[in-house]
Amino acid sequence: MKKRNPVSITILAVLLIIIVAYYLFVQNFTYLTSPLFWGTVFICVIIVMIQNSIGDLVENQKFLKLSEAEKSAYLEEKSKPYFKALYESAFKKQSVSEEKDILIDHGFDGIMELDNQLPKWWLGLFYFGCAFCAIYMASFWLTDFAHPVKEYDDEYKMQTAAVAEYMKNVPQATLETAVFSEDNVEAGKEVFQTNCVTCHGEGGRGGIGPNLTDKYWINQPEKTLFKNVFWMVENGSPNNPTMQAWGKNGVVSGNDIQNVAAYVYHINQEQPPITVAEGGAAPQGTEAHWEK
Ligand code: HEC
Repeated sequence: MKKRNPVSITILAVLLIIIVAYYLFVQNFTYLTSPLFWGTVFICVIIVMIQNSIGDLVENQKFLKLSEAEKSAYLEEKSKPYFKALYESAFKKQSVSEEKDILIDHGFDGIMELDNQLPKWWLGLFYFGCAFCAIYMASFWLTDFAHPVKEYDDEYKMQTAAVAEYMKNVPQATLETAVFSEDNVEAGKEVFQTNCVTCHGEGGRGGIGPNLTDKYWINQPEKTLFKNVFWMVENGSPNNPTMQAWGKNGVVSGNDIQNVAAYVYHINQEQPPITVAEGGAAPQGTEAHWEK
């Protein structure tokens, strides 16, 4: 007669499975305070107890039918501590005298095949793997657990939030503090390509917006070219809403305005203007005399 697992071990195993399953579906441990979780635990424990009681009854009935020798062998087996017995059975090997019982009826060249039992530790791992696979597959199909797309989304949101947080705290250039630097021209070019090129054309040659490479300017609120560009991007055009207030509207940060102003300064002062003959827009406004 087979020895049964103690009920405490079964309850522990069931608890473990419930915890793992809940974790896979909820994906954190907040469920530990939920009545649903404890309800599941309660019901499962009751079911295990009932199953155990039925097992007890069946065991008693079977026990009565054993011979005296079998009874004492069984009782001795049963009195062994659970984990000791488990350990021993995990590494149990057939004795030579038992081999004839498990000899399979085919062999070759004198080599015979034995129907050995699989080691218990191997079977245990195998069953655990099967159970885990089933729970994992179920949670994969039914929930967001371990979904690469979902994980990517979460990660992406976290990173953009971190970037936004950083941008909020990093000191931003203002009209007063902004200075021209040759180092910002490259970064400014990128800002220009992203936000401005649709209206001001490739290289600032003009289009919907004025040519930014020539000496003629509609708006001249500031005395230096660099600050003038900063002012325009920060505040937009007072007369023409097509040129929006990129800075005030929060579309472009202070540091990016500083960069793009450096780029516009660069194409206006450090490069020849793009003339009408070269595909540039015709001059608009009046000639500007920028202070250095
Ligand atoms: C939707 C089209 C549009 C976009 C995008 C745009 N602008 Fe403009 N921009 C204009 C228009 C139109 C004007 C002329 C405003 C006026 O008439 O007062 C202008 C004017 C300007 C001026 C002043 C030119 C002058 O002669 O007074 C600067 C400098 C400028 N824009 C820079 C930029 C920068 C830098 C960006 C990108 C951050 C940008 N603009 C994006 C349409 C645009």
